[in-house]
Amino acid sequence: MNLSIIVLAAGKGTRMKSEKPKVFHEVGNYPMIHHVLKTAKALNPKQIITIVSKNFNYYSNILKQSFDKIEYIIQKNQLGTADAVKSAFQSPKYAKSKITLILFGDTPLVSKRSLKRALEKFNSKNSDLCVLSMKPKNENNSYGRLVIKNNKLEKIIEFKDANTEQKKIKLCNSGIMIVKTNLLISNLDKTNNKNKKKEFYLTDLVNIFSQQNLKVNHLECNHRETLGVNDKNDLCLVEKEFQSLTRKKFLNSGVTINDPDSVFFSLDTEIGKDVTIFPNVIIGKNVKIGNNIKIKSFSHIENSEIKKNVEIGPFARTRDQVTIHEGAKIGNFVEIKKSVIKSEVKISHLSYIGDAEIGEFTNIGAGSITCNFDGKNKNKTIISENCFIGSNTSLIAPIKIEKNSIIGASTVIDKNISSGTVVYRKSELIKKQKK
Ligand code: UD1
Ligand code: CA
Repeated sequence: MNLSIIVLAAGKGTRMKSEKPKVFHEVGNYPMIHHVLKTAKALNPKQIITIVSKNFNYYSNILKQSFDKIEYIIQKNQLGTADAVKSAFQSPKYAKSKITLILFGDTPLVSKRSLKRALEKFNSKNSDLCVLSMKPKNENNSYGRLVIKNNKLEKIIEFKDANTEQKKIKLCNSGIMIVKTNLLISNLDKTNNKNKKKEFYLTDLVNIFSQQNLKVNHLECNHRETLGVNDKNDLCLVEKEFQSLTRKKFLNSGVTINDPDSVFFSLDTEIGKDVTIFPNVIIGKNVKIGNNIKIKSFSHIENSEIKKNVEIGPFARTRDQVTIHEGAKIGNFVEIKKSVIKSEVKISHLSYIGDAEIGEFTNIGAGSITCNFDGKNKNKTIISENCFIGSNTSLIAPIKIEKNSIIGASTVIDKNISSGTVVYRKSELIKKQKK
């Protein structure tokens, strides 16, 4: 598509009351800007330019890994949305695209579908400028208002600059705009900062265009996907919306979620077929859940891959690169960190398994612990297939237990065990009559 996308992400975000740039605050465990760039990329444009502030670099490494082909341009002083768009003109390739779509880094939920619809309208009506509009449920909001005269969009008035009558207008600006690139370039300099915020407003383009009788229109989309984030109240609202959309997506794809309102997902959660998620479950970043899985209540799953036919929880925690293979069972009060759990392993109660590899068919008894940290380093525990680790065992890493071995209950193991060995500590039980 002959399209450039400019993402505005340089705003100070003063109202967030945070040292972090606003667009790095997270929704679904990913920075808001990540959501926007993902959607932008899905539109397959010629180029994406993100306008950022000077302190952006400090936070941006991970973002640059995921979105390496995107240009990042610094807006020197935050003089307003019109000034931010102007910074994009520094990109040498910019003017070659016929159409420019402007997205906001603080409006993370806008869908590819709505943007496509707006682009189609823009093309079919041969528009010069099209604004994505919305009607927020909460009429007490401070979005810019769309002033319509004789059925035509005449201007957008910012809430702070609006009079009492204009403040009553229900139709609001989402901030998202599509505009012909040559007209954008030739008109941006006509904006000024004679307004309450003393900023150069991008929204002033609407009036500048309509005064020249250029073709200006708007497309209304669902207000829920164009919620903007200016403070922590907005962030909380957008998180709620994100969760509600994601729950619906998984329910529609066949996941059983007994109490959707108490289950939380991340932007990158993947779930297969015949999965049941019980109430009060949190799925953090980087989780892949395969087919035929049960995740029981109060479990917190992060950075983990769960292959198939697995049961986890209740009260289980997995984190920091965990793979759980087919047929394994992870029971209550079990924490697994950076470990590979092979097929048919049972870790049913009260265990900590960290930096470990557990071989097929091995059973880890209740209360068994891998002592992976010696005060300085994290050390590995390797237990091969078909072992039986008795209850309340402490495995002092680094340690290797070879296949077909049995460790008696309450044993402290600090030496490698060769295959087929039975190990236990003999301590006599003294039994005598009370005096
Ligand atoms: C803006 C719109 C308003 C709309 C609302 C929707 C303008 C003038 N107003 O208001 O009509 O209803 O969004 O959410 O456009 N930014 C920069 N550089 C700057 C200033 C802002 O990159 O100098 C970026 C911000 O990071 C943000 C976006 O532009 O992603 C919008 O800026 P913000 O200050 O949040 O505008 P609003 O007051 O929300
Ligand atoms: Ca905003």
